[in-house]
Amino acid sequence: AFAADMLGIKVLVTAAGTYEPIDPVRYIGNRSSGKMGYAIAEAAKKRGAEVILVSGPSALTPPDGVEFIGVESAAEMRDAVMEHFSEADMVIKAAAVADYRVRNVSDQKIKKNDEELNLVLEKNPDILKELGEKKRAGQILVGFAAETQNLLEYAKAKLEKKNLDMIVANDVSRKDAGFNTDTNVVKLLYRNGAIEELPIMTKHKLADELLNRVLKIKY
Ligand code: C5P
Repeated sequence: AFAADMLGIKVLVTAAGTYEPIDPVRYIGNRSSGKMGYAIAEAAKKRGAEVILVSGPSALTPPDGVEFIGVESAAEMRDAVMEHFSEADMVIKAAAVADYRVRNVSDQKIKKNDEELNLVLEKNPDILKELGEKKRAGQILVGFAAETQNLLEYAKAKLEKKNLDMIVANDVSRKDAGFNTDTNVVKLLYRNGAIEELPIMTKHKLADELLNRVLKIKY
């Protein structure tokens, strides 16, 4: 169980959701807890990898021995990821990055003077898509797809559009899978079109199962 089969491998993991500021005290966020990403970082570290964990706000404690970079917004996550991408042998993007950010972030706390408040949202950069465009031969990119419908169809489209080696498809409408649960139920999709259905398991067990497969792709 403690095979040091990742010695000499550098893994960049992203985890948790991003916070997109509205004003100095408010943000737009999502339900990602960070559990899946932290479990992957911990598993890779235990197997001997050098691990960088880039995380949005999370209640979890970073695993011992990983290089931890805490970020808030998608823009900050992008900067941290881009800074470390070239040195990474594999990137596993378990973070739930906000698709949109507030256009005009207020410098001061917004007061409740008006009956209506309109926020204009603009699209965030897709970090994983950018990595897919930049990736070198030999670098492995793994993405996650959390959906409430048409899971396989959307996951397959993301695998192709973002130039991934594997995507972990997660039906977040289930009670035993997805946000803030300790277990997960996923399907894995590969570049060659193969689809693998995994049974329900803990996020810790799933982390090792994912790493086993990523290592098989690369080594
Ligand atoms: O948001 P989406 O469902 O497309 O997310 C799929 C994958 O893309 C996830 O691995 C997520 O971390 C990544 N992603 C990203 N930057 C975004 C949106 C998603 O890296 N702006």
